[in-house]
Amino acid sequence: MRYKDKIVLITGSGSGIGKAAAIAFSNEGGTIIVSDINEKNGLETVSEIKNSGGKASFFKADVSNHNMVKKLMGYIVEKHGRLDVAINNAGVGGDFAKITDLTIESWDKTMSVNSSGVFYCVKNQIPIMLKQGGGVILNTSSIAGIRGLPNATAYSASKHAVVGITKTVAMEYAKHNIRVNAICPVFTVTPMFDPDAMDKLKTGISEKLKANIPMKRFADVMEQVNSMLWLCSNEASFITGQAISVDGGITA
Ligand SMILES: NC(=O)c1ccc[n+]([C@@H]2O[C@H](COP(=O)([O-])OP(=O)(O)OC[C@H]3O[C@@H](n4cnc5c(N)ncnc54)[C@H](O)[C@@H]3O)[C@@H](O)[C@H]2O)c1
Repeated sequence: MRYKDKIVLITGSGSGIGKAAAIAFSNEGGTIIVSDINEKNGLETVSEIKNSGGKASFFKADVSNHNMVKKLMGYIVEKHGRLDVAINNAGVGGDFAKITDLTIESWDKTMSVNSSGVFYCVKNQIPIMLKQGGGVILNTSSIAGIRGLPNATAYSASKHAVVGITKTVAMEYAKHNIRVNAICPVFTVTPMFDPDAMDKLKTGISEKLKANIPMKRFADVMEQVNSMLWLCSNEASFITGQAISVDGGITA
């Protein structure tokens, strides 16, 4: 019960890694604020948590909209009076294309959700944590945030920005008892990364991707979530400003 009596926000928790994290942090005693742009999925996560005896509420927010992000943080302070753990996880995969074929609209959309979204969230979480004397922030980057990913210029650039925000803000607020880290997942089976759907588009592509990973497999969603549970807990009390790869060795 590492999160007993803790208030935990997870953006993008209507699906995939965020949803699994919401359930896992609830199973360890946390009170969860599920936030997502997709209301139906977010409410489904809340129902699953409540049906297993946990505490959760939903707040719909598009993280690329600064006003909505401010309202989300206002809702948390009004309802709970504090925010102990903030997991800024909402993201989009962006379009798969070489830079010459990547449209300006596609670049803008990916950057606004993945980079500006994390910037808006962290910017509005820090004052809450300063006021209460500390807190933990965890941003979801990607292995594409610490290395290139061919055919994904916008996604890779957007996730590098997440690492930059993480490291800089960690240094700015370390003395205020606020830890800020990122995880950098490799391909993890979720609705965003569905190997079967990919193989239907291009035969054998998932086997090729797997072959590049030293462990020769994709990550299970709980392998990302277990890292999140550890990094946000007191067990990681001296770790800040890190981008931790959870990647089967691909960035080694
Ligand atoms: N699955 C992977 O292989 C993988 C690898 C590396 C990093 N990641 C990152 O992990 C995070 C979670 O991805 P996932 O695989 O669980 O994907 P997912 O698509 O299953 O979940 C992403 C969630 O974010 C929400 N979202 C999208 N845009 C939003 C917005 N503007 N505002 C609020 N919510 C929004 C979606 O509705 C969805 O519920 C993302 O940041 C993604 O980039 C995933």
